[in-house]
Amino acid sequence: MTVKEAIQSAAQYLGERNLRAPRQDAELLVASILEQDRTFLYTYPERRLSPSQKQLFHQWLAKRGEHYPLQYLRGRQEFYGRQFWVRPGVFIPRPETELVLETALALLRESRSKQLFAADIGTGSGCIAITLAREEPRVLVTATDISGDALQVAHRNAELHRCLDRIEFRAGPTLEPLKGRHSYYHLIVSNPPYVSHLEKKSVDISVNRYEPSEAVFAGKSGQEVYRRLFCEAKSVLRPQGKLVVELGCDGKESVSRLARKNGWVLNDSKKDLAGRDRCAIFHQG
Ligand SMILES: C[S@@+](CC[C@H](N)C(=O)[O-])C[C@H]1O[C@@H](n2cnc3c(N)ncnc32)[C@H](O)[C@@H]1O
Repeated sequence: MTVKEAIQSAAQYLGERNLRAPRQDAELLVASILEQDRTFLYTYPERRLSPSQKQLFHQWLAKRGEHYPLQYLRGRQEFYGRQFWVRPGVFIPRPETELVLETALALLRESRSKQLFAADIGTGSGCIAITLAREEPRVLVTATDISGDALQVAHRNAELHRCLDRIEFRAGPTLEPLKGRHSYYHLIVSNPPYVSHLEKKSVDISVNRYEPSEAVFAGKSGQEVYRRLFCEAKSVLRPQGKLVVELGCDGKESVSRLARKNGWVLNDSKKDLAGRDRCAIFHQG
């Protein structure tokens, strides 16, 4: 089987199983099996898959046909130019979260302090915490999560990216693991779960079936974790400190309203490439 044939048959198979972007998925799948990037596929369409590659191709294709995430098959996902380990039980980093990371990074870079303290609440794979530590040498990050699986993977990723000495990991809900740290952090960043349980049916099958539900859903309103963040973050932030959060589609108004009720002021918001408000920056009112 050649590269071209593998892509064609995979795209057809995945299309029949209602995958949203079958051709793109087929290319990524074949590229991953060959451990190459997608340009390789166009440069060497006649390259033949070895017997072991062919076997893996069939195994992965069957799983992907059940909407199983390719990232879990590969065991990794790229974020801000770095590879992060992921596995079932741990949320897969999304490209839109790079906007949140960039926003947090820009705020830290504005500071003149020699040492900076940041917290990443709901760290998942550790993609935000680790990228902050790697990109801004002055920062020490506290990374928290309610999921032991996530913290294990984040720890492994910090080891991979050689910044274990600049990140502390703490288990527990929202700001609870930071209790007692009054006026300590320059910045708190979070990509919390923000989908309402009532919207479960409209969520992508692949997310619904295979990603951890505590990483995606947050109560009836979808605002449970935001609510806790707004209630609890003030005591640990410095007076000029900022809270940066990722927003779901159409979340800006409702999240800002919730923030205002809890004494926060919307400082700024950022749009993603599709023009949606995806990231909000708050300061204390
Ligand atoms: C949407 S994922 C984001 C993961 C990672 N920060 C990223 O951007 O890819 C949300 C994460 O928050 C964690 N989480 C959910 N509820 C939480 C809570 N109350 N306190 C702390 N972490 C929570 C989940 O386990 C999950 O890892």
